[in-house]
Amino acid sequence: MNTSTAQTTQRLADAGIFGPGSEELALYESRLTRYFEREYQRLEAEPVSLEDLGISTAEGPVMEETEALMDSHYDEKPEFFASFLDKHYQAYSMAYYGDTPSEIRASTASLEQAQKAKFELITERAGIVGHERIFNIGCGFGSLETYLLEHYPNLEITGITPSKVQVAYLRQRMQDPDDPLGSGRFNLIYGMFNRQLVNTLRAFSYDMVFSVGTMEHSSNMREINALTKKILVINGTSFHHFITSMQAIPQFLDPTKTKIGLYFPGGRVWPHDEFARHTEHFDLAGHWFVNGLNYWRTLDEWHHRFWNNIPGLYGPVFDTDAIAHWNNYFSLCKAVFAPQDGNFYGNSHYLFKLRS
Ligand SMILES: C[S@@+](CC[C@H](N)C(=O)[O-])C[C@H]1O[C@@H](n2cnc3c(N)ncnc32)[C@H](O)[C@@H]1O
Repeated sequence: MNTSTAQTTQRLADAGIFGPGSEELALYESRLTRYFEREYQRLEAEPVSLEDLGISTAEGPVMEETEALMDSHYDEKPEFFASFLDKHYQAYSMAYYGDTPSEIRASTASLEQAQKAKFELITERAGIVGHERIFNIGCGFGSLETYLLEHYPNLEITGITPSKVQVAYLRQRMQDPDDPLGSGRFNLIYGMFNRQLVNTLRAFSYDMVFSVGTMEHSSNMREINALTKKILVINGTSFHHFITSMQAIPQFLDPTKTKIGLYFPGGRVWPHDEFARHTEHFDLAGHWFVNGLNYWRTLDEWHHRFWNNIPGLYGPVFDTDAIAHWNNYFSLCKAVFAPQDGNFYGNSHYLFKLRS
């Protein structure tokens, strides 16, 4: 540790804030993890359904509390995201280290390699051949776009995001003809995905619709599929990747009840089987659970990178409260993915094919 890092971490320790590698944080995270371990065991023993909870995923707003979500999360200072995301893709979703807990633990992949492995897995499961026109809901900093445009010279992709921080970053990259995002095969929409937006798009414009790490912000899955249908070609497909739990976790379905809502206003964690039920217009062609230790490792890597960049963040970018806020975010998220060896809380993949 260099002098500046040591001085900064000491000032933060004096304020009761500890980073990865400290005994204090390890103890805090292990207690949090034990709490969620007990919660998941209880829910496995006595599952509750969405019907029991009076929750429907066929009504309500298509995306939840987008403006509050941008303010509290996605429009946070760009230096924050730059401090921890991988440098190549800037992916803000789970990286993929392996299928089983032992593979994930034993993996020697870097964050960048594991993010690439995630895109390889998604591409294979979605059945991309390379000449598709794709619509990506919630494109973040263009991670999926970067991967696909680098690998498939005939593919075109449109990304949508309501985040001004993400849009500013993407627009800058689009100026560079050497950047995959500046290739002319990337189109950016600054806005929210909803019916109004879809009404401005041409029917039959896309072969595939994707989302990666975005449907946590939706509560009306029927409407997601109804809107997707409007822009897809005949026999088009959609592929979605997002955080799920094997059984419903009641407190994670009400963002006013937990800290999830503090970091992600309107955010919810849906049971693995829920989206798969929405087959009004589509056939379900594939449905997978991805072990949650993948996200635990991703978050742990992000947490270390954030903490290694603390001297540049603390003072110039963030005050003490903001450092505590985001430091706690990484710990909290790690603690929800770690229990049950990642078998209860992870990510799901859904591949839908439009019925003709
Ligand atoms: C966790 S990030 C994932 C980003 C990216 N897909 C990735 O994997 O790197 C979620 C994305 O959903 C976007 N989002 C949230 N609400 C949205 C809405 N109403 N319409 C479209 N995108 C939305 C956010 O701006 C962000 O880009």
